[in-house]
Formats: sequence, structure tokens, C-alpha cells
Amino acid sequence: MSLKLGVLLSGSGSNLEALAGRIEEGALEAEIALVVSDRPGAYGLNRAKSRGFATYLASSKEFPERGDRERAIIEALREHGVEAVVMAGYMRLVSGGFIRAFGGRVLNIHPSLLPGFKGTRAVKEAAEYGVRVSGATVHFADEHMDHGPVVIQAAVAVHPGEEAMELADRIQALEHRIYPQAVQWLSQGRLILDQGLVRLADAPTAAALDTEAGPCLVSPGLEQGF
Ligand code: GRF
Repeated sequence: MSLKLGVLLSGSGSNLEALAGRIEEGALEAEIALVVSDRPGAYGLNRAKSRGFATYLASSKEFPERGDRERAIIEALREHGVEAVVMAGYMRLVSGGFIRAFGGRVLNIHPSLLPGFKGTRAVKEAAEYGVRVSGATVHFADEHMDHGPVVIQAAVAVHPGEEAMELADRIQALEHRIYPQAVQWLSQGRLILDQGLVRLADAPTAAALDTEAGPCLVSPGLEQGF
């Protein structure tokens, strides 16, 4: 059982790297079939190429209209047999039609405890607001920004006087743990949407569960190795 993934990115691709690393280790039953970027200079494209992944560029220069861009991306993803889409720092909204094209199997990651602090300045705004706890969220995407049923969240305590950059790094370290975990659950068919909420179906082997995942608050529980 190996889920074929399409990864959408616009930036550095550290989450792509984390997913690829877990796949390589055999902890994540998935394969990265195509990496798509809307930005020609995205460092994530370099990472993808150096790992030998197929890449596809759908720039706004080539596709000024969202509809055209999405149609081209869907076609490219389908050509590569993609079954689920992982948005990893993709800086654009996708439409309902895009999400339906993949049967709703479109995930996103965001560096805040949603529904707080949506948008591109989430970590800075949370730090400026003076929150004591922040974190990261993986959720099913819908057509709204940083919105949709939550799959997993991980929290960090914000240190007094901490710079936003430092907080962002600590949150990213959590992202690199929870995104592979969320994708593994998706691959195992364990993410059940029930009245707009995500329920985690029982693990195939209950013994693999490790709910004491470490010092951070992680819900609903990372499994061994993540
Ligand atoms: C992550 O912080 C993610 O939460 C946000 O964009 C960033 C992408 O980072 N959506 P990277 O490109 O995976 O390094």
C-alpha cells in the first residue's frame, strides 16, 4: 500500500524534504510522484530535482488565470497517477473544483494553531500578539485560506521575548514531524470525515500507537517514529 502524492510548493521545500526522508526510511507508505511549483525560483524545486522527483512548473506568467493554472496542474498530477495532494508551503488558494478532482484528498500545513492566525504572517502575528502557546496544524484543505477539518496539531510554548524567527524554526521542526504522520494516516485510510470533523480510525496494529509522544502537546497522538 503506497499512496501516490503530488506535492505543491512555492518556497524552500523543507516539508517536502521531511516527507521524502520519512518515505526513504520506510516510516511513510507513500511515494512522491510529482512536485509542482508556481514559482520558478522556488528552492523546493531544486530539492525535488536533486532527489530525482518529477517536477512541474505552473507559473503565474504562463497561467495568469487561476482556472487555467489549476487545469494544467490537475492534468500534470493525473498524468503522474497522483492520488492525494500535499500542499507544503504553496502560497495560493485552490478551488473547490481542484479539491474535488482528488476526492477531497488535499492536505495543507500552517504554522499556527488554527483557527488562530491564518495567512502568510502567522508566526509573526502570533508572537506580536503575545500568545503563550503556538504551533502547527495539518488540515484538509477547502477553498478558503488555512481552513478545513483539522487532522493534527502540535503545540510549543512561546519563550518570553522570543524572536519570531526563532519561534518559526521551532514550529517548523514540529511541522516536519506532524506532516509525515498525517500523510501516513491518510495513506492507511484512517482519516474519516464525520460531520465536518476528522476522526482517526483505529490503527491496523494497536501496538504501534504511542500517545506519549514527547514534551510537546500533540493531538491526537503521534505514532512511534514520527
Ligand atoms: C511552512 O511553515 C508551512 O506551514 C507554510 O509554509 C511553510 C513552508 O515551508 N504553509 P517549507 O517550504 O516546507 O520549508
